[in-house]
Amino acid sequence: MRILIVYTTRYGTTERAVKLAKKLFEEEGHEVEVREVKENPSLRGYDLVVMSAPVYRDGPHWDLTDWISEHREELEDVPKAFFLVAMHLAGSVFMGKLHGGIAYSQPLIEAFEVPPFYGTLIGGEIDVERLSDEDRRKMKRFYAVLGERLESKSLYREEDVKAFVRRTLLYYDWFGKHFRRGEVNKAKDFDFMEKVREMEAKLDAEG
Ligand SMILES: Cc1cc2nc3c(=O)[nH]c(=O)nc-3n(C[C@H](O)[C@H](O)[C@H](O)COP(=O)(O)O)c2cc1C
Repeated sequence: MRILIVYTTRYGTTERAVKLAKKLFEEEGHEVEVREVKENPSLRGYDLVVMSAPVYRDGPHWDLTDWISEHREELEDVPKAFFLVAMHLAGSVFMGKLHGGIAYSQPLIEAFEVPPFYGTLIGGEIDVERLSDEDRRKMKRFYAVLGERLESKSLYREEDVKAFVRRTLLYYDWFGKHFRRGEVNKAKDFDFMEKVREMEAKLDAEG
């Protein structure tokens, strides 16, 4: 199938993950175009759109969410998946409110009537030396809230990108193609665990 990967990046980690994802989709026999959001790519003719952005200030980078707002109508009609790149992967609960972790993806779900069929978070990187003064100040505050000190570290793992690609292709077959506009109620009743049990039975049968 024809895949469009749309992304934005500030320090390059998301771009690295996107390039690997492209290579992995191609190895599975798919045709992949990679475009930065600032190129304002059109969506015509793609079977799958993958969106990717780093998390900045508690949410997906605004360049991606702006692009989504601009292309929302077209995006409703194409199966879509996403991965976000972040440092606070596990997430926290502050006074009963979800913060960080997969909760970072909420704006990418709420943006649509037909939501992305799959999305996940992968680990990012912080290189203190490369941060602008302003970003360093912001990151210091970010880690202070987590009770940690700002230091260079990498949570980026190629395995996570591989898992994203593998699962996107698997779930595309399961439900990526099946829910169109006006059929979202059908998706609400979709029994994910039923699908898992079906897979288990298939694997058992194969021995
Ligand atoms: C100013 C700034 C704010 C950030 N805010 C968050 C945040 O709220 N949550 C988080 O998990 N990571 C945050 N990060 C970490 C980035 O998501 C991480 O460094 C990522 O690898 C950046 O991707 P990029 O290299 O593609 O720009 C922040 C980083 C910077 C520099």
